[in-house]
Amino acid sequence: VLPEDVQSQPTLQVIVASTRPGRSGRLVAEWVVAQAQADGTFSVELVDLADFDLPLLDEPRHPRLRQYEHAHTQRWSETIERADAFVVVTPEYDYATPAALMNALQYLLHEWAYKPVAFVSYGGISGGLRGVQMTKQVVTALRMMPIPEGVVMPFFSQHIDSATQLFNPGEVPRQAAQRMLEELRRWAMALAPLREPQAAAL
Ligand SMILES: Cc1cc2nc3c(=O)[nH]c(=O)nc-3n(C[C@H](O)[C@H](O)[C@H](O)COP(=O)(O)O)c2cc1C
Repeated sequence: VLPEDVQSQPTLQVIVASTRPGRSGRLVAEWVVAQAQADGTFSVELVDLADFDLPLLDEPRHPRLRQYEHAHTQRWSETIERADAFVVVTPEYDYATPAALMNALQYLLHEWAYKPVAFVSYGGISGGLRGVQMTKQVVTALRMMPIPEGVVMPFFSQHIDSATQLFNPGEVPRQAAQRMLEELRRWAMALAPLREPQAAAL
């Protein structure tokens, strides 16, 4: 991705980290997508881990070699490759990163590198934050840039309308999302030169 492309309309992927049947993550992610579309800075994609159906890492070679054997890995690689920035929408499971997210991160390496990532988390009183702190540590090994701005939503289920199944957490999270998107754009621009193909080959 060349800096000029990023300048015109960088690609933001909103990643749904939970995959279990009946999950709420998809509803929260749809709210994030709506915020990003209203903001207008990014070309926005919803990337739902449930749609990729990744088994527990089953590639024989280290991802740094990019010699993928399986169609599911190719598809996952091509998807993540085209992003300039990410918002990971995530709960915490047992105070930790959901296994599906950890697995999806570990499938790839170069595809994640030099891209900023923000977190929108939800849960009980913790708002998913303990899991996010753990995930931030992991993404640094992939050369991603986790940014401090994000959205934390304790007791998030109170904001799901049971009739419409729409998630609307109100004004404070909306403003937090706005700040997060502004910062993601700044980081996406700043890191763009590092993502040029010749830089990746070094
Ligand atoms: C296996 C499991 C572990 C959980 N652990 C936590 C936790 O540590 N902290 C928390 O706030 N909520 C926890 N919860 C409750 C989740 O916040 C809630 O179920 C939420 O809907 C999970 O996101 P999802 O619906 O997208 O899977 C847990 C839920 C599950 C299924």
